[in-house]
Amino acid sequence: MPEQSIPSLVQAQFDEFPYPNVPIEQTVTDNFALFANSITTARYLRDRQVVKPEGKMMLNAGCGSGWETLVLATANPGAYYVGVDISAESIKMAEQRFQFHQIGDARFQVMDITDMRALGEQFDFIACNDVLYLLDDPVAGLKGMRQVLKPEGIIRTNVHSLYQRQFIFHMQDAMELLGVMDEPAAKAVPILRELMEALNDASFVKSHWNGDAIKTTTGILANFLLRSDKGFTVPQVFEMLRQAGLQFISMVNWQAWKLERVLTKPIPYAMRHIKKLSQEEQLHFIELIFPNMTRLIDFWCGHPCPTPAAPFSQEEWWQGSVQAHPLLLRLNARVAFENAIRDNGPVNINGWPGAEGNIVVDPFSVRWLIDVFGEEPVPVQALVKKAVDLMDWTQEEAFGQVLANLKFLEERLVLLLNSPLR
Ligand SMILES: C[S@@+](CC[C@H](N)C(=O)[O-])C[C@H]1O[C@@H](n2cnc3c(N)ncnc32)[C@H](O)[C@@H]1O
Repeated sequence: MPEQSIPSLVQAQFDEFPYPNVPIEQTVTDNFALFANSITTARYLRDRQVVKPEGKMMLNAGCGSGWETLVLATANPGAYYVGVDISAESIKMAEQRFQFHQIGDARFQVMDITDMRALGEQFDFIACNDVLYLLDDPVAGLKGMRQVLKPEGIIRTNVHSLYQRQFIFHMQDAMELLGVMDEPAAKAVPILRELMEALNDASFVKSHWNGDAIKTTTGILANFLLRSDKGFTVPQVFEMLRQAGLQFISMVNWQAWKLERVLTKPIPYAMRHIKKLSQEEQLHFIELIFPNMTRLIDFWCGHPCPTPAAPFSQEEWWQGSVQAHPLLLRLNARVAFENAIRDNGPVNINGWPGAEGNIVVDPFSVRWLIDVFGEEPVPVQALVKKAVDLMDWTQEEAFGQVLANLKFLEERLVLLLNSPLR
């Protein structure tokens, strides 16, 4: 019998168990996923422009059971959604999901992501989560997405980290030696489970056997028994992007990829020297000293653009208007501000994906900042005037204070600035 090619083995795995196995009726509440898949987040990070999702074309490349497509639809209301996958069973489930949630502006198609020209469309945003590392040729996957990406479009995609996942790769290779990888899931999963339970606790492989999720059938199939899984380093990712004619924009969890976050106290020598490294080398340095930091090298990329957008100047701030990230509006952030004013207390913004920790807005700033958490952008000058009215400040003092607060929040994408000067 001829050996099965890798794409058809991958397809067979996902036809048997469409991924992820999330119930059709479930709605999306994962803020990190919503933030990562929002066109507003991505375009602001790269271009410092506030782009709304209405009417935009969104593609989910390797959409699986349609859960990620539902994330896209929740993060980008009013857009049009297309999902493609090589697994016909996964596509069926994605269609059922969208029917259940009554999202009409969507279509799903069985298709390989390495050639999506048959879609006959160009996209403003492409999401491709947990797919590239399964491909025989991930550069072909990136090229496939570039083919259908509008000039100003952005791709959110990721690959497994070679370093974080090395012991899972060991187990996959070990299962290959035993022939377990060729068994149907119904037989392979119990064998793997038995082996892992029996494995000496001191084994590094066993460090991945914690928590309930990894021990489920889905968890085992998506990890220890995942066919065609591969790991990558940061330099390999940058090289693949170069080969595909794409440019790295940022890590999705960029706050975690900072030296200040990886070291528990400042080491001046390291701080000084890391600044001299390229972006690629800085990120590689982080993955070398903290190899188990993250399962995914998860990033946004796009067509090469000659000059990245510079931070806003004082004048641009003064002439501009600000608004809260639309995701925060949907999370009812305004209510927190109203309650804080009533109680004369601060506002705590917890677990915001753009920030490294808790963000506290002091009780005074809450009062001039609240209007930003409405539907319309508010002129910075109006915020300064409000601060002057509330405090015994000169206009310069108020602008200085307001600007320091706004810049802090803008760096974390809590607020977005629209500047007429750009
Ligand atoms: C781990 S799942 C991820 C599903 C979805 N992106 C998510 O994050 O929920 C990987 C998916 O990629 C699909 N896939 C693998 N290779 C593909 C290819 N060459 N073209 C299209 N889809 C592919 C699989 O069928 C599977 O549904």
